[in-house]
Amino acid sequence: MTAFALEAVEKAPLADLRRLQLQRLQWSLQHAYDHVPHYKQKFDQAGVGPQDCRTLADLARFPLTTKADLRQTYPFGMFAVPMDKIVRIHASSGTTGKPTVVGYTAKDIDTWTNLMARSIRAAGAKPGEKVHVAYGYGLFTGGLGAHYGAERLGLAVIPLGGGMTERQVQLIQDFKPEIIMVTPSYMLAIADEMERQGMDPKQCSLRVGIFGAEPWTNEMRKSIEQRLALDAIDIYGLSEVMGPGVAQECVETKDGLTIWEDHFYPEVIDPESGKPLPEGEKGELVFTTLTKEGLPVIRYRTRDLTRLLPGTARTMRRMEKITGRSDDMLIIRGVNVFPSQIEEMLLKQPELSPHYVLELSKDGPMDHLTVLVELAPGGADVGSAGKLKHNIKSLIGVTSDVKIVPISSIERSIGKAKRVVDKRPK
Ligand code: DLL
Repeated sequence: MTAFALEAVEKAPLADLRRLQLQRLQWSLQHAYDHVPHYKQKFDQAGVGPQDCRTLADLARFPLTTKADLRQTYPFGMFAVPMDKIVRIHASSGTTGKPTVVGYTAKDIDTWTNLMARSIRAAGAKPGEKVHVAYGYGLFTGGLGAHYGAERLGLAVIPLGGGMTERQVQLIQDFKPEIIMVTPSYMLAIADEMERQGMDPKQCSLRVGIFGAEPWTNEMRKSIEQRLALDAIDIYGLSEVMGPGVAQECVETKDGLTIWEDHFYPEVIDPESGKPLPEGEKGELVFTTLTKEGLPVIRYRTRDLTRLLPGTARTMRRMEKITGRSDDMLIIRGVNVFPSQIEEMLLKQPELSPHYVLELSKDGPMDHLTVLVELAPGGADVGSAGKLKHNIKSLIGVTSDVKIVPISSIERSIGKAKRVVDKRPK
């Protein structure tokens, strides 16, 4: 079998997949219970044990896990193997409090590498191609995850990491990679730099972009595809569950992300009650790892909001594109707003660029939203602010101020974009 053929499990009959999942789930629950005192304590408190999981539906009886569990046991308390079995440690940036720390055994790294290879192949990579990796290398899982996966597939990896945008453009021009792996917001900054250097982004060698690590809308997809003449494909993951490659969109359907369910069991719960929702309803995504040795996670609450959909290109279920996290939700004068809703709205105005920031301030006792957005290069201001303000009011229901700001005045991200600036007094 070549690295480019589908693995049998990707097209397995659904019943076979479910059987494999149950078997692996029972192993994972036992592994967590036997080797992580924190899980043992939580299971005992909830009055459930690994032997109570007889069907996949029984998983709902087990307690949920959150970032707080990882923080409580910082740094290595959730590891299920001794340190001499751990070969890699990553950590999330931890904007508030301590970072969350994750550990991998050699087998975990092998699984991750395989799933990243599977993901890059699903995105449309072909033998002989070159992959420009502009996800950050380091404690962040993006760079190394992409790197190992592309190498496993036999592709030529160009490991730039994030930053030094001029050089990114230079090397894209010189090395002519067909594939780029980068956050969608940093892709935009690279495209801007191409234009600044007098290149037409459409003429560059890139054929496929594998974009993730932050929310981005289908409007943003259209905008990037038009500007760079490539297929923009979504990749999802989180460090606690593994890193990138938990779910991946397939190029042939571009209809949401296929969850690699042979390794991660998904559920969607009501974020308020914590109860599982019926298939197809939107709520918070929860994952249980089925094969991870170093850091098994049982019913981990991702905070990401989505719904589960039946498989199309593969047997495994899909998740709808994630456009927000429960902790990204802004409440403006009682109306719930996700930054992605504003992004969708502003990208419907072709004269506006995808560079924007949402500023929150206090107007007396009330929260006030200001949208700062740049014009697209060559775009003319055609009463653009007023139009956007009107659309935000009539379609989302919040009053905002919209300011058109000079090109390049909004800070460009080199990794995950920061879309919200909260200026409200604490
Ligand atoms: O961002 C892993 C990753 C790297 C994914 C490169 C894709 C590409 P963390 O830093 O732990 O891991 O952040 C995980 O990022 O819970 C989501 O909120 C968000 N996220 C990741 N991928 C997507 C995506 C990596 N495709 C958190 N769409 C997750 C929307 C995403 N949000």
